[in-house]
Amino acid sequence: MKQALMILTIVASLAGASLAAAGSKSIDLPPDGAQLKPSSLPGYAKAQANCVACHSAEYMQYQPATAPRPYWDAMVKRMKVVFKAPIDDADMPAIVDYLAKTYGNEQPK
Ligand code: HEC
Repeated sequence: MKQALMILTIVASLAGASLAAAGSKSIDLPPDGAQLKPSSLPGYAKAQANCVACHSAEYMQYQPATAPRPYWDAMVKRMKVVFKAPIDDADMPAIVDYLAKTYGNEQPK
């Protein structure tokens, strides 16, 4: 059993090495440090101040565009409660509004 696993590991690493040697495959990663999408909503500035200190805006970009307002509300609260993001409760509704309209299901079609 252990031996089989070892052989598998060797085969897998050989396959990886030959792929790397071929060098023809490439993937496009989004640029590091993605910025929040600009908006005239008041929550834009608040999101800039509160939401990109720990991670880039990529995290918002990769949320489903079908995500409804309560999803964003829960997300902002999770950032505060779980990850201790220093977000003022008073700023939350504007941030959620910006997120739902910019990344969620309230985006202009
Ligand atoms: C104190 C640091 C911090 C701040 C400030 C912060 N986040 Fe996060 N955020 C995190 C961490 C840590 C994760 C989890 C990363 C992981 O799970 O790999 C995360 C993950 C996310 C994700 C990915 C989905 C998920 O559930 O993991 C989204 C979307 C997100 N944050 C949005 C926000 C928004 C919107 C704000 C502003 C309201 C914000 N973050 C502010 C730390 C922070």
